[in-house]
Amino acid sequence: MHDTHHENTAELYDSYVLGNYGKPQLTLVRGDGVYVWDDEGNRYLDFGSGIAVSALGHAHPAWVAAVREQLHRLTHASNLYRNRNQGRLAKTLAAKCGPGRVFFCNSGAEANEALIKLSRLHGNRKAGREGTCFKVVAAENGFHGRTFGGMSATAQEKIRQGFAPLVPGFAFGKLNDLESFERLVDDETSAVFLETIQGEGGIHPCTAGFLRGIRDLCDRKGVLMILDEVQCGVGRTGRFFAYEKAGIQPDAIGMAKGLGSGFPIGAVWVHERYAGLFTPGSHGTTFGGTPLACAAGLATLYVIERDDLMGNVRENAPGWMEELEAVRAACPAKLLSVRGEGYMVGLQLASDPLPVAAAMRRHGMLTVPASGNVIRLLPPLIARKDDLSRAVEIVRSALAETG
Ligand SMILES: Cc1ncc(COP(=O)(O)O)c(C=O)c1O
Repeated sequence: MHDTHHENTAELYDSYVLGNYGKPQLTLVRGDGVYVWDDEGNRYLDFGSGIAVSALGHAHPAWVAAVREQLHRLTHASNLYRNRNQGRLAKTLAAKCGPGRVFFCNSGAEANEALIKLSRLHGNRKAGREGTCFKVVAAENGFHGRTFGGMSATAQEKIRQGFAPLVPGFAFGKLNDLESFERLVDDETSAVFLETIQGEGGIHPCTAGFLRGIRDLCDRKGVLMILDEVQCGVGRTGRFFAYEKAGIQPDAIGMAKGLGSGFPIGAVWVHERYAGLFTPGSHGTTFGGTPLACAAGLATLYVIERDDLMGNVRENAPGWMEELEAVRAACPAKLLSVRGEGYMVGLQLASDPLPVAAAMRRHGMLTVPASGNVIRLLPPLIARKDDLSRAVEIVRSALAETG
């Protein structure tokens, strides 16, 4: 279709692609399992999984077969009509979340927009009129996406800067400091909105006790407990949702990223008690829940179950953390801490992580930087012990030759 022989992708980017992502360092052309290849034939262990997306790794045969089959059958039909895959995926997710209903969209930010709208509907119903009960209490250092709602729920100045005025009504408590949330939640509050594990903020998990405390606070105040599981959900911690460690049930959950294992899909689950807040015409999106996107979602969830990938994470993650901890102990001045849950790990460095991430790339591993001098390791859920150990070797080598 195109003359690709004389194309220089970096030049095309320099001339035509908007500069909002900075300057990408590699041109990736192919993926298979835990590996991706660049246009010079170099192979990389993909321990970013995109950004926590490729749950099944790349080109997983069952996923490819399901998507290909659906491509031939029906790609898009709109939400003016039912499609079987959307109904099936909603049922599968409800079985994991609890009694309730699901709305499909295309990204994490879009899922969060729907959740923020849900909080408005709840606040308005609670107050009996519009515009008096709409405070959402989120956490400092969180990240909820780049739309206006997402940015407004994100306290970090570097995300918000340049876009004022943002959506009013957001306040921020300190993660794992229940009292700071107790102080902020009042009669004008409609929801508490948290990532169960902060990802972009540098891998900071909510403790189980904090989650239980927030649940209790929300119950006492008639406030929705909404969890953003966009990055930490869909098996990444070895549990389907990260919050399961607390034995609680939130009122609504946002998910995306790993749910389609590379096909764009987002979803919101709303508890049956609040599902009726979304009445016909109150929300929607053209591309949400297409037969194709839901085929990708169904295939992802099917393989996670069939191959017990959460069991794989639970089995391998503790040993991996020990190996990484041994690296930290060997160079504590460079690697300050290793933290996280399952296949969601943050390496807290003493200085700028970018040179270390570049060294890891030279040694054949892709990672994702995060705030606070952190490098995120987010392997695909299919990663086995050998892959994890290889990653540890690369971390060791990269640290040895930097700083
Ligand atoms: C916790 C969390 N919420 C929301 C988002 C936004 O998702 P998306 O980039 O798909 O809009 C992200 C993306 O990194 C995220 O990590």
